[in-house]
Amino acid sequence: MLINKNDELIIEIDDIGSEGEGIGKYQGYTLFVKNALPGDKVRVKAMKCKKNYGYARLMEVIEASPYRTTPQCGIADKCGGCSLMHLSYERQLLFKQNKVRNCLERIGGFKEELPLGPIIGMEEPYYYRNKAQFPVSRNKEGKVVMGFYAGGTHSIIDTDHCFIQAKENDKLIQIIRSFLENYNISIYEEEKHNGLVRHILTRIGYVTGEIMVCIVINGNELPHQDKLVQNLREIPGMTSISLNINKANTNVILGDKVINLWGKSYITDYIGDIKYQISPLSFYQVNPQQTKRLYEIALKFADLHGDETVWDLYCGIGTISLFLAGKAKQVYGVEIIPQAIEDAKRNAEINQIINAEFFVGAAEDILPEKYKENNIYADVIVVDPPRKGCEESLLDTIILMAPKKIVYVSCDPATLARDLRYLCDRGYELIKVQAVDQFAHSVHVETVALLNCKR
Ligand SMILES: C[S@@+](CC[C@H](N)C(=O)[O-])C[C@H]1O[C@@H](n2cnc3c(N)ncnc32)[C@H](O)[C@@H]1O
Repeated sequence: MLINKNDELIIEIDDIGSEGEGIGKYQGYTLFVKNALPGDKVRVKAMKCKKNYGYARLMEVIEASPYRTTPQCGIADKCGGCSLMHLSYERQLLFKQNKVRNCLERIGGFKEELPLGPIIGMEEPYYYRNKAQFPVSRNKEGKVVMGFYAGGTHSIIDTDHCFIQAKENDKLIQIIRSFLENYNISIYEEEKHNGLVRHILTRIGYVTGEIMVCIVINGNELPHQDKLVQNLREIPGMTSISLNINKANTNVILGDKVINLWGKSYITDYIGDIKYQISPLSFYQVNPQQTKRLYEIALKFADLHGDETVWDLYCGIGTISLFLAGKAKQVYGVEIIPQAIEDAKRNAEINQIINAEFFVGAAEDILPEKYKENNIYADVIVVDPPRKGCEESLLDTIILMAPKKIVYVSCDPATLARDLRYLCDRGYELIKVQAVDQFAHSVHVETVALLNCKR
């Protein structure tokens, strides 16, 4: 073996991987180095050496890449959240644009004249997130630790201030931390699956300023909860305080049951003119400014004139459905989480939208069932699946239904490329692709694609 574990080497980084890791070569042997950037000359320590490639730890930046910046956040290199904060924002956007392009070319096989528009970035890529999930633990000294997981681990980096979260979180963390310390509240221990407080979920309405706090516990009640409620209520904008019961031995953050402690069971926010009620368990896009842009692109791609039937699959709380309803004859939404569908129905009601109907269930079950039983029809189908993309059985039904347009909203360009290829091999043509930066400083990217039916 050319390189052995713990060898220290000096290499130049000349590429960046899909997870933002620097890629360099030592005498032809490829090394992946977290936190290193193309253009860096670095000293690294080999950690894991396979036959053709290995992983190394960054020990020293000897010559810095022109694209390297000092992260605003002092813990960015440890925290798993912002793995690109050391890269200039301009270059982060280029990285994401190339990531989408590479997936479409390599996985999707779309080569010639890829219809990919320039990525839409943020003007001010800080303090943009409306949702935080802080894991809680105690350190060896018994002090409460709250923050984010270190990259690829479950060890928590203690945090008082996060540069991508809404600033209101600082005060929330401070109050909850003091409460847990002062009342010596039991904290969950993942390895032993005992203890009480697991996570703190917060949500903040970007337009309304309404605040939600949900304490995730491995139990049925939180001792002295009235004291916590009393302190949290003092924060301007506080709207909803609840407990989420999660007794499962799993790393899934939320359980199914929510107990309201104070205020409403939801917060309200707007995207464009549409008002949305959001419950603790519902999916809601985390970057409200960019979400508006994302939905406007979806709307533009759908090109509705008022007489169309639209199916919005994986509709969450009906955000895209209701955004499109004003321009369509009828919209149908499908979503697997029952509470999200309750929100979607209520959201239609509070916006006086009467041409939207919602169904609970897996899209890959509901759509084929409805197509078989009722021969349902669509002019436009919108899909916005989780990272794993769409099931083939769903894509097959979409192909049978043959909508004129498919608008595919995706948070994973690799599964997007796979699914677009599947559709394009079966009667569809890729017309446009647009990436939007919903997740500044992370490696994630959101993409919208438009497909037209060739039949
Ligand atoms: C990326 S989110 C999109 C939600 C919504 N379109 C939005 O923009 O807020 C994906 C949604 O799909 C839901 N989901 C996951 N698997 C599903 C399935 N098999 N069928 C239907 N919905 C599913 C999730 O609960 C989540 O609400």
